[in-house]
Formats: sequence, C-alpha cells, structure tokens
Amino acid sequence: MDWGMKNRFSRIIRPNDGRCVMLAVDHGYFLGPTERLEVPYKTIKPLLPFADSIMLTRGILRTSVNPSTDVPIVLRVSGGTSIIGEDLSKETITTSIQEAIKLNVSCLALSIFVGSKYEHQTLVNLANLVDSGEKYGIPILAVTAVGKDMVRDARYLALACRIAAELGAHVVKTYYCENFETVVEGCPVPIIIAGGKKLEKEIDALELTFKAIQDGAAGVDMGRNIWQSDFPVAMIKAVKSIVHENYSVKEAYELFNKEKKKEHKNPALTR
Ligand code: R5P
Repeated sequence: MDWGMKNRFSRIIRPNDGRCVMLAVDHGYFLGPTERLEVPYKTIKPLLPFADSIMLTRGILRTSVNPSTDVPIVLRVSGGTSIIGEDLSKETITTSIQEAIKLNVSCLALSIFVGSKYEHQTLVNLANLVDSGEKYGIPILAVTAVGKDMVRDARYLALACRIAAELGAHVVKTYYCENFETVVEGCPVPIIIAGGKKLEKEIDALELTFKAIQDGAAGVDMGRNIWQSDFPVAMIKAVKSIVHENYSVKEAYELFNKEKKKEHKNPALTR
C-alpha cells in the first residue's frame, strides 16, 4: 500500500485497535426515504460526533453533512436500481473517482451480488473500482449484498467475502451468521458487519455486535439498529463501547440505559 492508501485506510480501520464503527446512512440509494432517515441531516447530525466514519451517497453528503466535518467519508458509488425496479443486482458504478476525490472521501463502497442474475456485472464493477482506487490511493469497501430469497449462511457469506477480497477489496462488509468465524478465517482483509433490519430490542443488536467482534469482525457498518432506535445516540455509544472498549453485552446495555436518560426521543421522529 502506498502512503495515501495507508493514510485513508487508517481513517476507516483505526490503527490503535484495528476496529471501526461506521455509521450507514446510504439506504435511500435504492429504498428512497427509509423510516427515520426521511430527512437525512436530522438523523445524521446528532450521531456524527460518535461515528468513526459515515457511509453515504454523494447526494446526501452534499446536502446533509457539513463540509467542515472531520469524520471520514465512505462514499457509496454503486447503484442504479430501486426496490421497485427490475432486479436489485443490476448495479453499476454511479459516481466517478474524480468526483470522489473532489469530495475528499476516505473510502469507496460498492455492492456485489454473488449468486444473482447480475453477479458478473457487479464483480467486474468491483474489480474496476479497485483499479481506480489503487491508482489514487483510495481503499475500497465491498458490500456483500444478499437478495431477499438468499440464505445468509456461513457457506454463502464466506464465498462472497472471499471473492470480494480476491478481487482486491480492502475491507468487506457482510452479515453476521452462525459459524461466522469461518467467514472471517477465509477472508484475508478486515470484515465489518451490517446490522440488518431493526431488531426488536436494542439489547439484541448489542448482542449481535458483541458476537461478531468475538468471532473476529473488525467492527460494524450499522444503520437501522442505530437510527431506528428511539434513542439513537445512546445506541451508537453502546455499540461503540463493545467495538472499541470491549464492553460485554450487559455493560453496553447498562451504558445504553444510562445514556438514553440524557437523550430526547429520536429527533427524526418529530420532524
Ligand atoms: C444496504 O443497503 C446498505 O449498504 C447499508 O449500509 C447496510 O445494509 C448497513 O445498514 P444496516 O445496518 O441498516 O443493515
């Protein structure tokens, strides 16, 4: 890795502990105004000071994040599909590397759809993006997207993560699953996990985070389980305590309960 690549990478996976709390707010790129992310700046503003990095599209970056921020930007650069369109896997690269450089981003993110109709197209997208990233010193986060009907088991996720790493991704985002340690073992670059749909209770998402870290994840790229909580700031602080301070689930949940007393109910609820 050259200096620029190393420098940017160290802004994503923190060198002091090799971990990362990335706040995911890119959902609108195919889902539109997702619940509690309807007005992105309202969701983002209170959470940004506690995120190690933020993952979003250029449209939301430009309109909803103050350019004076020092939080590293992970720019989603794949898309071109919608939840009501023909096939979610038919993604292409939607933002140029020159635009990403102008936006001063620290990392580029792109989805791959292994096993889907457009698998080949999305894997070639990744390979091309890695080439561009290598040229300009920008690391690539590969997102292993799964279709509605696909099983998120260790065999499938290990396949998708390994392919992402083989094509040159510097970090891979996937889902937690049973036997997750085998997914980590087979992937030579750091793996971070998505939270997925909002779980019923906050403690469930904390447990998910804890188990993923125990099994070798480098951190989270979490969205809905943070900002769909009634107490998102308390939630990101609790997640962070597990990722960076090795809190147990019980300790993190105690922190959540303590912090939620200081927080007004989710401002994204009271637009
Ligand atoms: C997927 O559409 C996006 O890439 C999200 O960033 C990812 O799924 C993480 O968000 P969540 O924790 O809400 O699943």
